[in-house]
Amino acid sequence: MIQAEEVRKSYKQDGVETDALRGVSFSVGEGEHLAITGPSGSGKSTLLALIGALDRPTAGVLRVGDVELSRLNPTERARYRFEKIGFVFQEFHLLAHLTVLENVLAPFLGRGRERAKHRDIAVRLLEEVGLQAVASRPAGVLSGGEKQRVAIARALVNDPAILLCDEPTGNLDSKNSDAVMELLAALAAADEHKILVVVTHDPKVAARFPREIRMRDGQVQTA
Ligand SMILES: Nc1ncnc2c1ncn2[C@@H]1O[C@H](COP(=O)(O)OP(=O)(O)O)[C@@H](O)[C@H]1O
Ligand SMILES: [Mg+2]
Repeated sequence: MIQAEEVRKSYKQDGVETDALRGVSFSVGEGEHLAITGPSGSGKSTLLALIGALDRPTAGVLRVGDVELSRLNPTERARYRFEKIGFVFQEFHLLAHLTVLENVLAPFLGRGRERAKHRDIAVRLLEEVGLQAVASRPAGVLSGGEKQRVAIARALVNDPAILLCDEPTGNLDSKNSDAVMELLAALAAADEHKILVVVTHDPKVAARFPREIRMRDGQVQTA
């Protein structure tokens, strides 16, 4: 469960302060799938980064399960991300020279024993996203749609409680966009507890979801 109460986030850059989130409150139940929409600059990516503990709120309370994220120190935040969160970004963020399978196992870099334990899971995820045939090719040679499917497999390899996707179809044509969204929904639905949050500016993508949180100027317009 995600619970946000009056969450604020300000960035200070070159002496200029931007209020990216200005008191955001909402809650998301276990197993919910939802879209976050809103104009560019409305705070969508900031909100996702806070839920994923890539950054901390300036004020307010953000709880995931029984963990209050602003209380975590950097080591605890890293562990929270590793154990609870899967990220999918618009730009895929694959390591081009590594193989597709190595990319799916990238979260376990430097964790040899866990990496070995998750190899079969990674192979199975690659089957589920339809890329088993290219598992040993360098990720850099894949098409955009394929790269995003690798990124989805990577995001799921640690079986996260929450899958956070920031404009996952932003670099894809409509055919690949549909395929990626089908896949995300199906994979997330395979675990009835998993929360899926997709930031999108595409109304067609948002329309797939039973719930939409609309952001505007750092606030929730409708939840
Ligand atoms: N790291 C940062 N430093 C300074 N300002 C930032 C930073 N990240 C985001 N912002 C600002 O915060 C606001 C919200 O940005 P963002 O969350 O990226 O919006 P969205 O994802 O809806 O386009 C914008 O005004 C943006 O310029
Ligand atoms: Mg954004």
